Amino acid sequence: MSDSLHIIILAAGAGTRMRSRLPKVLHRVAGRPMILHVLAAATQLEPETIHVVFNPRTPEIKQACENFAVNWVPQAEQLGTGHALQQAMPHVPAAAEVLVLYGDTPLVRAEDLKPLLDGPRAAIRMLSMELTEPAGYGRIVRDNRGRLAAIVEERDATTAQRAITEVNSGIVMGPASALHDCLHALDNRNDQREYYLTDIVAIARAGGIATAAVRAPLGADLEGANDLAQLAVLERRFQARAAARLMTAGAQLADPARVDVRGDIRTGSDVFIDVNVVLEGDCDLGDNVRLGPGCVLKDCRLAAGTRVHAHSVLEGVQTLGACDIGPFARVRPGSTLETGSKIGNFVEVKNTSLGKNSKASHLTYLGDSSIGDRVNIGAGTITCNYDGVNKHRTVIGDDVFIGSDTQLIAPVSIGDGADIAAGTTVTRDAPAGKLTIGRCKQVTVPGWKRPQKK
Ligand code: UD1
Ligand code: MG
Repeated sequence: MSDSLHIIILAAGAGTRMRSRLPKVLHRVAGRPMILHVLAAATQLEPETIHVVFNPRTPEIKQACENFAVNWVPQAEQLGTGHALQQAMPHVPAAAEVLVLYGDTPLVRAEDLKPLLDGPRAAIRMLSMELTEPAGYGRIVRDNRGRLAAIVEERDATTAQRAITEVNSGIVMGPASALHDCLHALDNRNDQREYYLTDIVAIARAGGIATAAVRAPLGADLEGANDLAQLAVLERRFQARAAARLMTAGAQLADPARVDVRGDIRTGSDVFIDVNVVLEGDCDLGDNVRLGPGCVLKDCRLAAGTRVHAHSVLEGVQTLGACDIGPFARVRPGSTLETGSKIGNFVEVKNTSLGKNSKASHLTYLGDSSIGDRVNIGAGTITCNYDGVNKHRTVIGDDVFIGSDTQLIAPVSIGDGADIAAGTTVTRDAPAGKLTIGRCKQVTVPGWKRPQKK
């Protein structure tokens, strides 16, 4: 957007109010650490550089952000937001335009920052918001002409100031030189003995540097998560946005409040999603896909017309045409289902391809197998793919009938059109077009007497 835009994200705070060992900004909203949401918004603004101020005692934050180009700035002691920004300022050029974001405001979007980016260039601009419950936030104090006079933290505020509902979002923008001069004059004479970034407003005013509080645009949600209750509130608001996006794209939701999106979901038209569905990772739902209640999908590509019935768990699954899955199915990574295939209740499928119109309707485990077209897998069939050390493949041709309670000891293959009798333990390849039976002959023992209790 601007050639000289440099973004600094403050993320070193101890996060004491979370009562957790996990650094605050790694707490998740929609399955992603909060800091990643902020980095995503920052990246959209195409800045020259992004600096993240972090606590060097929690280096795991670097790992979490490895997909972003970030300059990491350590803040050895957490002496406040002003002190945090001081650490990063030497890393931006003197002529830079600096945007400061907080790592604990995960609902921030690039478009919400427009009023700051478009604001008066010479001034230090704070982004403010109106909250009906402003508790915990720094209050925006304006003079009698409505100009920004100061920001007062709640614990340092008078009763009258606490009644102010315009609060500080924490997001600041300004020329590096002005910020630098103001930061220089910070002190920690306040209730928390911290160097408050917010004090730069009063300092700027006293020093004749222009300041402004710009209101966030309608629909912006810049609240921070300082404790788990606030985190839960932000999670629900994120989900409300995600549900609205799904519906705009043509997905009908049985209850928009009972779908959780934790990733990037694309949907076709006439998709129906029942209650308590969780969608994770990267999912693609084709036209007319229907997801029953309680389903969990991660990284799935479901072709048009696929139906997933209640309480099925799918990960890394691809359907190539309309298929039927569940209820109570578990389909694991590397599984591909062709048109007309069916995975029924209590069937687990892993790293397996199922051909057109093939069915495994009940109580089965199919692992590391290739299954042809028009195959029927009877109830209770198990591919014994693991010998305790290595995994082996099972290959089943077209038009095969596998009787119930069959064990296929891999590696093994079944020829086209073969029938396997129920209860067979298949240890060697079964030929095409023949019946293979591998169970002992049924006998009835004459004169058998049940043991008697002594
Ligand atoms: C801060 C603001 C408050 C504003 C609110 C908006 C100050 C003094 N207060 O309060 O006016 O209304 O955000 O959410 O700025 N951080 C560091 N190093 C530190 C301290 C904090 O990097 O030494 C980081 C934190 O990781 C966090 C951000 O700065 O991402 C804000 O700190 P936090 O403690 O959450 O401030 P709030 O009390 O929420
Ligand atoms: Mg905060």
